[in-house]
Amino acid sequence: MKPPVLLTRRIPSAVLGRLEAACDVDLYAGDAAIPRAELLKRVAGKQALLCLLTDRVDEEVLAAGADLRIVANIAVGCDNINLPAARARGIVVTNTPDVLTEATAELAWALILSVTRRIPEGDRLVRRGSWKGWALDFMLGMELGGKQLGIVGLGRIGAAVASRAHAFGMSVVHHSLGIAAPSPSTGPRPLPEARVLPLDELLATSDVVSLHVPLTPATRHLIDRRALARMKRSAYLVNTSRGPVVDEEALAWALGERLIAGAALDVYEREPAVTGKLLSLDNVVLAPHLGSATTETRTAMANLAARNVLAVLAGQPPVTPVAG
Ligand code: DGY
Repeated sequence: MKPPVLLTRRIPSAVLGRLEAACDVDLYAGDAAIPRAELLKRVAGKQALLCLLTDRVDEEVLAAGADLRIVANIAVGCDNINLPAARARGIVVTNTPDVLTEATAELAWALILSVTRRIPEGDRLVRRGSWKGWALDFMLGMELGGKQLGIVGLGRIGAAVASRAHAFGMSVVHHSLGIAAPSPSTGPRPLPEARVLPLDELLATSDVVSLHVPLTPATRHLIDRRALARMKRSAYLVNTSRGPVVDEEALAWALGERLIAGAALDVYEREPAVTGKLLSLDNVVLAPHLGSATTETRTAMANLAARNVLAVLAGQPPVTPVAG
């Protein structure tokens, strides 16, 4: 008999086929996140749960899935999973590091360029017929050459963002909050010289601040009113990490008061809801959590999660375990 597995969202068919060859897959095929009651019902009796960051895997879900041997998150961030509770039950938790690093770094740069050159704002203006033609002082943005990029969290993705700074002539500083930097020799590109700065100094001196920390109790609202007030009035904040790292109300206040020049967000405190005040501001770019959203990367993420499930169900060590 094949081991029963719950998959909470559709994945590429080639990956699903590999899973189905070895497991009895119960796929939730809805277009949105699996409803809570459905998750609690369908996890019962399953040996593996393949889930997404939109599924809250807490004590209640783990208790309902009393036969679970592995929870394989199709994401690198695991803040949706109660890790100590999983560890206490002897359940392996895995994530999908590395395969999404490049896509997320590219998206961070897309946001940096979008907000500093006001592209979405200009696009809106053209579409509503308000463009009056070329003018010397029209929609001026900030040039990146010679400016300082401040990376908060120089892990894999932070380092991949930093490694592209040279192409734009930017210098890099970072503050790592204890996150280990990847070795310069193992990354896809050499890391540029990056001075380590205390967070306050990074905030006070950087022209672009880009956030790349996991969501933990220590990083929740790391960027609050106080932090925003430290930033230069000409600076930009970019967040591709997790929404609650930024206090959205505080950010709306800082943008409204022009305490910073702009912000670009890919993640939000209560996704898919966005703090209303942000929606009416022109100096913020709002992307719908697209960091890893390329065909190549989403396929690789699903594939890695499936490999983790197949390994653990075959009694082998997981490929990418998360420390509990
Ligand atoms: C992750 O993997 O944590 C990303 O946020 C998914 O896009």
